[in-house]
Amino acid sequence: MRVLFVCLGNICRSPTAEAVFRKVAAEAGRGSDIEIDSCGLISYHEGRPPDPRATMAAEQRGYDLSTQRARPIVDDDFERFDLLLGMDDDVVRSLREMAPAASADRVVPFLGLDEPGAAREVPDPFYGGMSGFEDVLDLVEDGARALLDHVESRLDPH
Ligand code: 4NP
Repeated sequence: MRVLFVCLGNICRSPTAEAVFRKVAAEAGRGSDIEIDSCGLISYHEGRPPDPRATMAAEQRGYDLSTQRARPIVDDDFERFDLLLGMDDDVVRSLREMAPAASADRVVPFLGLDEPGAAREVPDPFYGGMSGFEDVLDLVEDGARALLDHVESRLDPH
């Protein structure tokens, strides 16, 4: 099973989701069953580490973003990954426009997968203050647990 977190720049939200989900999956004993990656819609930050504010906020909760480097989405991602998880509605919309017809149902919102009525978007923290990065972590930690349940329902039992 391969999952790809996608945001706009791949320096704030999707690297955070990648690190949090990596830890959640490892703690559930699923580290080797799930391949996890992240990318952005734009290439502007390609090759750069995550935003220092994201790295710092994540580090305070025990997540390591230091080895990640931004990359833009490529056509092959729509074939390679079973789930492409958009961090907000704009990203989901853009991914659906880019996706080949055969991969359209692999594009889903990261939040609200199984819970209608729950928060559906992880707001972009880039132009705000540190509290936005804490909000990202709160939403991503909740969403990562829901995603693990969803993914485990598609995996063989332990
Ligand atoms: P991200 O945040 O999509 O969560 O990585 C952003 C990072 C950079 C920009 C926008 C959002 N930007 O416009 O450069």
